[in-house]
Amino acid sequence: MRHLEKLSSGFVGYLVLVCVCLLISPAFAECPTSRITDAQAFAHRDTSGYAHRQKVGFILDRLDVQSGDHVLDLGAGDGWWTEHLAQKVGPQGAVYAAEVTSALVERLEKRFAETPQVKPYVCPQDKPGLPDDSVDLVFLSAVYHHLNKETRIQYWRELASVVRPTGRVAILETYPVIALRGKDHGTQLSTLVSEAEQGGWVPLEVWYLQGTQHYLAIFGQQAAFLNNPPTAPHSKAKTCLHLPPGLGCDQGSSAAWRIS
Ligand SMILES: C[S@@+](CC[C@H](N)C(=O)[O-])C[C@H]1O[C@@H](n2cnc3c(N)ncnc32)[C@H](O)[C@@H]1O
Repeated sequence: MRHLEKLSSGFVGYLVLVCVCLLISPAFAECPTSRITDAQAFAHRDTSGYAHRQKVGFILDRLDVQSGDHVLDLGAGDGWWTEHLAQKVGPQGAVYAAEVTSALVERLEKRFAETPQVKPYVCPQDKPGLPDDSVDLVFLSAVYHHLNKETRIQYWRELASVVRPTGRVAILETYPVIALRGKDHGTQLSTLVSEAEQGGWVPLEVWYLQGTQHYLAIFGQQAAFLNNPPTAPHSKAKTCLHLPPGLGCDQGSSAAWRIS
């Protein structure tokens, strides 16, 4: 009898193990291998310039945006990515959709009139123009090469102020080394990583998006890797620029920042 009990408890344990393996195996299956088994799958077939958008599922998985997150879509353009990010953060979160001209911001406001978590605003050319420690992730799709080359390292430092200590910056960009067209509208990976490192960031992961001419590079702050990483928000001087009411600092009040 005891023997039977032992056998059945062993069998139950085995079943539990199998179930756990089945539960976690999809997570592994989603992580693609870097092994090039089919060169054609890697080859760049993009004629539209937007093939990377077909990788939206993979890209969003890598960004790991969660409900309630605050994300900055820097250079949001027509808001294609903003919409996907807004779905991920949900009504409890926020997607700040930054653009440099008020005409583009007005278009974004119209498009997202019914999506209150999307907050379009006009940002300055040389900084994101959000309060310190206000976002978990900054996303730049086809925007990095638009930033002023002379001041990009300083831009990374500005990003370090705006992003929370454990936050990240994700860059989706044309890779000129392999681009068949539009090479000027991209940034060499080596340039990007070098500038990011000088500006206080480290690459956490870099993905070549198969069949496109784009890469996705995700960075974390160097400070997060120190022996005593910052846990409290930065205490840097705060700036408040070009933000609509409710988005930025509450001037003249003792409450430093008010993010809606
Ligand atoms: C090629 S579009 C990409 C739009 C969008 N991110 C996408 O992938 O569909 C580049 C956008 O970056 C914006 N941009 C250029 N310089 C910028 C800056 N310094 N700060 C924020 N946005 C900028 C432009 O206005 C333009 O809408």
